[in-house]
Amino acid sequence: MAVSEQDGGSGSAAVHPPELVGREREMAELARALDAPPAAVWIEGEAGIGKSRLLREYLARTAGRADRVLLARCPPLHHPQTLGPLVDAVRQVTETVAGLPLSPLAGALRPLFPEWAADLPAAPGPAEDPTAVRHRVFRALAELLARLDVDVLAVEDVHWADEATLEFLLFLASGVPQPVGLVVTCRPEDVAGGSLLRRLAARLAADSVSAAGRLRLALLPLDVAGTARLVSSMLAGEHVSDGFAGFVHRRTEGVPLAIEGAVRLMADRSDLSHGAGGWGRRRLDEIGVPATVRDMVLERLGRLGPDGRAMLRAAAVLGRPADETIIRAVAGLAPGRAQAGLIEALDRGLLDDEGWGQVAFRHVLARQAVYDAIPPPRRRMLHRRAGRTLEALAPPPVGELADHFRVAGERSEWCRYAEWAADLALASGDETTAGTLLHDLVVNGGLPPASTVRLIRKFPFASFAGPARFRELVPPLRAALAATAGDAVQEADIRVQLGNVLLFMGEDDAGRAELKRAIPHLGHDPAEAARAMMRLGWPRSSSWPVSAHLRWLERAAELEVPSMTAADRLGFAADQATARLMLGETDGWALEAGIPDDADAPAEWQQITRANVNLGDMAMLWGRYAVAARRLDTALALADRRRYRRYESVALVTRTHLDWLTGAWDGLAERAAALAESEDILPLARLEVLFVVGQQQAAAGAYGPAAERLRLVLDGEVDSGALADSMEPAAALARLALAAGRVDEALDITEEPAALIARKRTWVWASDLGPVRVAALAAAGRVEEAAKLTAAFARGLRGRDAPGPRAGLATCRAVLADARGEHASAARLFARAAAAWQVLPRPYEALLAQERQARCQIAAGQREVALSLLAEVRERLITLGALGDADRVVSCLREYGVPAKRPQRGGRRANGNRLSPRELEVTRLVATGRSNRQIAETLFLSPKTVAQHLSSSMRKLGVSSRTALAVLATSAEFAQRDVPDRRPGGGAKNR
Ligand SMILES: Nc1ncnc2c1ncn2[C@@H]1O[C@H](COP(=O)(O)OP(=O)(O)OP(=O)(O)O)[C@@H](O)[C@H]1O
Ligand SMILES: [Mg+2]
Repeated sequence: MAVSEQDGGSGSAAVHPPELVGREREMAELARALDAPPAAVWIEGEAGIGKSRLLREYLARTAGRADRVLLARCPPLHHPQTLGPLVDAVRQVTETVAGLPLSPLAGALRPLFPEWAADLPAAPGPAEDPTAVRHRVFRALAELLARLDVDVLAVEDVHWADEATLEFLLFLASGVPQPVGLVVTCRPEDVAGGSLLRRLAARLAADSVSAAGRLRLALLPLDVAGTARLVSSMLAGEHVSDGFAGFVHRRTEGVPLAIEGAVRLMADRSDLSHGAGGWGRRRLDEIGVPATVRDMVLERLGRLGPDGRAMLRAAAVLGRPADETIIRAVAGLAPGRAQAGLIEALDRGLLDDEGWGQVAFRHVLARQAVYDAIPPPRRRMLHRRAGRTLEALAPPPVGELADHFRVAGERSEWCRYAEWAADLALASGDETTAGTLLHDLVVNGGLPPASTVRLIRKFPFASFAGPARFRELVPPLRAALAATAGDAVQEADIRVQLGNVLLFMGEDDAGRAELKRAIPHLGHDPAEAARAMMRLGWPRSSSWPVSAHLRWLERAAELEVPSMTAADRLGFAADQATARLMLGETDGWALEAGIPDDADAPAEWQQITRANVNLGDMAMLWGRYAVAARRLDTALALADRRRYRRYESVALVTRTHLDWLTGAWDGLAERAAALAESEDILPLARLEVLFVVGQQQAAAGAYGPAAERLRLVLDGEVDSGALADSMEPAAALARLALAAGRVDEALDITEEPAALIARKRTWVWASDLGPVRVAALAAAGRVEEAAKLTAAFARGLRGRDAPGPRAGLATCRAVLADARGEHASAARLFARAAAAWQVLPRPYEALLAQERQARCQIAAGQREVALSLLAEVRERLITLGALGDADRVVSCLREYGVPAKRPQRGGRRANGNRLSPRELEVTRLVATGRSNRQIAETLFLSPKTVAQHLSSSMRKLGVSSRTALAVLATSAEFAQRDVPDRRPGGGAKNR
């Protein structure tokens, strides 16, 4: 029947929840995948696109079957609880484990399910390493799922999951435990830098059901027809006019959540009318459907009665599914009113019945909108009530309680629950969560000194990265120090922690000073004292002579520490080895040989990871590249497996450095750029990466940008006392100056570092610096000084099997001979130096030595051999990617009448991959640091077009980040590549 406009529902068009629209293909694929376990499905799409809906429809359709489904949700908690989503889900399907045939392994579940203490096996023995603990928990949890006959594990919103949950999912997805169907939903736009989620995505993703049962479903918005169907389904299936459907589609961009919200809002406002053509809006031009979900939600909230609103606000503060009693307690309503309010909110489709008496927001965006609109004082009050209410639960949800009391401003409760939650996290091996909680507590908790020390001792420093988080710990530690009131022992306890934190931050002098003051008062804690001494033995700052470091190293070695575990001993041995090698002491290698690549005892894993990073670095310093590569790769594998972020980033950086040295330059620019860009990296490590970037630029012939960058690196390293590390950038910078004929500058740059090496007698630091310094002295006519330096270098290396520095020494000798005009012998010596570099292998240095060999040969009249050697060098420089150097060699060849082609800029890439003039232009502007919008303004393009040019440039150049693109764009390759139709005066807009 047709209803006239006047008859049309006045104010209360009956609105139904939408029926599922579209998604037939997705549903079929989902069913196909999950019907054949082990399957793993990844469902992604923007907020409100219908991920949860698809999942729930699928689960509802299979509800008749015997499949047992565990549905876990990851709520957007400030401090997610370790494995919280899974624990909550398990609790939904069973109240007890009594009678389940569990193995002794299940004892590991105790921290997760304290309420089952009576029925779980005994707690497993202590394992010091968090990873071991975690894996025990994972295995136990997997066993529990099996015993509960779970066929499908569905995890909603994994972008909010805690690390342990993600790791568990990875563990499950590895398919080892038992075949269980795994489905996760995720909003890709909310995926933070967290590589774990990316790894999970990679592990689960495949574009269609593959042999291994992997499926990735990316949900897209509805089209106009779909929008019409959705709207119609909400209006009892009646026809919806095309104009109306188009209107809604434009306003909502086809996102189901927004469509649904728009229809409900219009119904609330009585804006819907029913005419001969079916449903439509009253007057299309009169109403503006609010564009954002937030506005829609708030307007709908405003239309509820006061009790409905109160219940909704309470539910928003709780932020997770809850039953009526709990919501009522938080809302502070009498039972009857609470029930009426709840029913109203359910009827209006703002809350949803989740089963088991639990209700939750239909959608997190709605929850967020309601929550944000609560005035702060009221919010605090509601959080306080939520805390008090949830406290009564057994077991108490400690993470949530910490959150509630924190917002409520109830400091002591917050601290109690947060520390409890951190302890639980540590007990399950979840260092990330524990670290976040403890950090927040120490920084914002305003705790008494004793608590600060207690909490800092619990800190899982290894899982920390980035100096900012360390820096924030300093003021509370200083405050604690000020509050000790002369208690020397307590003061020493705090000072050690402060010293450690400062050292972690790279503030060596300040950190050392604290440690030195603390050590005399650490008699009660010899292990801590020994650690502090070791840190003082670390040879970094310039203010200390090597002998002072060695003394501390020895004192540490002599200290009797009865409490030292095997793992501690290992760490000590590794630190001794590293420190001694850095000081150039050969006996460090004997210690190094005793450090294994792996250990059975989990307690030793972290020490071994760190040891391998450091020993890799030292092997690199000594020029033992094979050892370096093995150590670093070992460290990387260990760090990756066990999530030691700090070690991972340092190992990656050092590996990148090693790749630079050993000529593994393919993809290096991109890797370095990505590292330099990442947040999770210590300042010194970042400098090391920038060094690699600078060196690459220099090799490519972009001398100006390279020098700028290397200068930055050098200053940064000198400032932070990383003296061993500053030698290479100093050498690189001086080499650039020398090549440009600026001899004084080269002398200036190398003077202090050379003096330092001579003073400290750390000649193993001179691989790069030695040759440049000698060359600069020779160029300045100070040949005798150059000779003296070379002789001292040789003496300094005596008895040391350090191939890197030896190659440097060989180069010094060749340079010296050249300076003395002994060309034939210089040529031989350069050949020898080239061979010494080549065996490391350090091919770039070897080629540069050969180039000089050839030049000496020319000077010695052996032109023919020289030119053929040069031609070969040119070839190999190009292959390596050192186009700037190749250019120089070409010039030399041409000078002697040998026709040689200049290296083809970008020649390594296919012709079809050439950048268009526009792409080139956009790329150049990226290199200047402009944003897309700014580039768009400069070039009179739309930001969208700019983005397109950028992405096609990145594709053509084979890079995947903006920084990598910028790095490439500052290289010579670009500097020399001309835009074909660039004319003077012809601005971009003319094209
Ligand atoms: N294909 C569809 N047909 C009908 N209604 C849909 C469809 N997809 C989603 N909806 C409705 O839109 C609303 C939002 O969908 P849903 O909660 O599934 O989004 P989501 O992708 O899970 O979002 P989030 O990332 O925020 O969790 C729900 O009320 C849902 O019922
Ligand atoms: Mg969802």
